[in-house]
Amino acid sequence: MREANIGYELNTQYWGQGYATEAAQAILKFGFEELRMHRIWSWCVAQNLASVRVLEKIGMRREGHLREKELIKGKWYDNFLYAILDHESFSI
Ligand SMILES: CC(C)(COP(=O)(O)OP(=O)(O)OC[C@H]1O[C@@H](n2cnc3c(N)ncnc32)[C@H](O)[C@@H]1OP(=O)(O)O)[C@@H](O)C(=O)NCCC(=O)NCCS
Repeated sequence: MREANIGYELNTQYWGQGYATEAAQAILKFGFEELRMHRIWSWCVAQNLASVRVLEKIGMRREGHLREKELIKGKWYDNFLYAILDHESFSI
């Protein structure tokens, strides 16, 4: 299948120091170089600007906007779908 997805969650104490980006980049590198993945995807709540930024910094492209995809504490949230392909990961 050669497809995988990634997600991340950091202790608030460590936000804003580039850790999520660094970790996600390392996982992409492992996924493409060691596991020989073809496609790695992720998603986030559309309002989660920090996560959007991380996904774009690691070179993922937005492929979809899924309306009211996720129910969190009784409220529906839109999700963005992101992905990167093996031949797009040269900058990692
Ligand atoms: C999302 C999360 C993992 C980011 O971790 P992090 O280590 O702080 O991320 P980084 O420092 O690598 O990068 C964050 C980027 O978002 C930006 N950012 C943070 N808050 C932002 C906001 N409110 N608006 C716009 N940009 C924002 C930062 O400036 C940074 O971008 P920059 O490097 O261009 O300045 C962390 O906030 C987290 O664990 N959140 C809770 C769980 C979660 O939402 N997980 C993702 C589920 S999809």
